Amino acid sequence: PQVCWLSPEQTAGKQKPYMYTQGQAVLNRSFFPCFDTPSVKFTYSATVKAPEGFTAVMSATSWEKQKDNTFVFKMSQPIPSYLIALVVGDIVSADVGPRSRVWAEPCLIEAAKKEYDGVIEEFLVVGEKLFGPYVWGRYDILFMPPSFPFGGMENPCLTFVTPCLLAGDRSLVDVIIHEISHSWFGNLVTNATWGEFWLNEGFTMYAQRRISTEVYGLPYTCLEAATGRALLRQHMDATGEDHPLNKLRVVIEPGRCPLGVNPDDTYNETPYEKGYCFVSYLAHLVGNQSKFDAFLQAYVNRFKFQSITADDTLGFFLEYFPELKEKGVDSIPGFEFDRWLNTPGWPPYLPDLSPGQQLMRPAEELAELWAADSLNMEAIEAVDIMGWRTYQLVYFLDQVLQKSPLPEGNVKRLSKMYPKISKAQNAELRLRWCQIVLKNNLEAEYSKVKDFLHSQGKQKYTLPLYRAMWGGSEATRALAMETFSATAPQLHINVQNYVKKILGLAAAE
Ligand code: BES
Ligand code: ZN
Repeated sequence: PQVCWLSPEQTAGKQKPYMYTQGQAVLNRSFFPCFDTPSVKFTYSATVKAPEGFTAVMSATSWEKQKDNTFVFKMSQPIPSYLIALVVGDIVSADVGPRSRVWAEPCLIEAAKKEYDGVIEEFLVVGEKLFGPYVWGRYDILFMPPSFPFGGMENPCLTFVTPCLLAGDRSLVDVIIHEISHSWFGNLVTNATWGEFWLNEGFTMYAQRRISTEVYGLPYTCLEAATGRALLRQHMDATGEDHPLNKLRVVIEPGRCPLGVNPDDTYNETPYEKGYCFVSYLAHLVGNQSKFDAFLQAYVNRFKFQSITADDTLGFFLEYFPELKEKGVDSIPGFEFDRWLNTPGWPPYLPDLSPGQQLMRPAEELAELWAADSLNMEAIEAVDIMGWRTYQLVYFLDQVLQKSPLPEGNVKRLSKMYPKISKAQNAELRLRWCQIVLKNNLEAEYSKVKDFLHSQGKQKYTLPLYRAMWGGSEATRALAMETFSATAPQLHINVQNYVKKILGLAAAE
């Protein structure tokens, strides 16, 4: 399941085949023999011979092209097995910064360069200022074929990203900042087991939002964090707060069921957004941003190139702030560290996102207007959304979705009024629009759901839409079946299996 072989039709250029690997969480054992656990780190080298007309790239410190189209790679820092990655395809590159280039199929390279030219270095510099040296040498970005199941994957030296990021306006750059943040949290300091995946993702969400705050300011970053919180709300509503996966420390080992839990199946919003809340809570206990930043830097320095558990993290936190340890902050009733880790449910502490109010308020008010039984068109027309940032529109759409189904006719009217939304090319907007279309049974626009699912295969876009279709009417169920039978071959095998589960079909081996 680890190596994905794509036919020419499954690429952007449609001319040549393509292969890529995705190691996280436990797939690399089917790629090469290894101790496939994040608790073991090693360096590696690789020699890859590719057919003429193809280029090979890997997550490695250096590479060299030799005769016979043979590529030699060397990773000189110790990394866990899941971070080894390989792509062979018709790909080319273009520089976007002093230590960064973008890789993509030739037909996408110009768009790729335009999207990120000159912006990557600033994120790296801010990251280094906050968290210490960037140890990986280069930071390059590879735009993957549309079926790549993730928004981004932090393969060291070479982040893999979905081509959906090519929005033309840098509006989805938070994904890049996220993957850059893994350069410290995840790739340097690594969760020792997949049961503590939140150590990778929760700290990375926190680091991402620290970099974003420095570069784009607090209001914008709080707005982005609010959309994250909405995703956590949706996830917990869908699964039930008490679901065993809604705690930060998840039981993966055999015990509950004979073979244990496949860590891939634990991928959800909890480690990301509840993890973010826990790290924010630690910062809140410290009460001073620069002191907490200094702690994060010391933490990275203390545990770099190691794999650790939450006990190591929290032990170091209390050691670093002895006055907090003395105060017993790990056992404040309702906020016990143990409760954070081992109790499922909504986070006991939420960071204050009110600095984003100036951006969120107008979106909330507009959503209220659209949810009314009789529409106040004068008030609606007085709001000019043309100047809104993408995440403001996303936030607005999440509010509309929450209030859906809207009174009869409102969504149709909304669609007509805002082609910027209903005809958007931006993937985050398309996802929300499709969710709204389905929840409101707007049959006239079902084709947009189908088109969106045909255009890309990201898991976080694909599964919510199939869940919505399957939970809807007979017509949306038929739409789900028809769309899946047409697109299944181009989906990543994990995503295929998750969709099958949703549709009540048997999972493939
Ligand atoms: N490492 C993850 C992707 C991943 C997680 C792959 C688990 C396989 C198993 C990556 O860093 C990630 O979190 N990507 C997010 C980005 C978002 C949070 C900005 C994604 O793909 O949506
Ligand atoms: Zn991540």
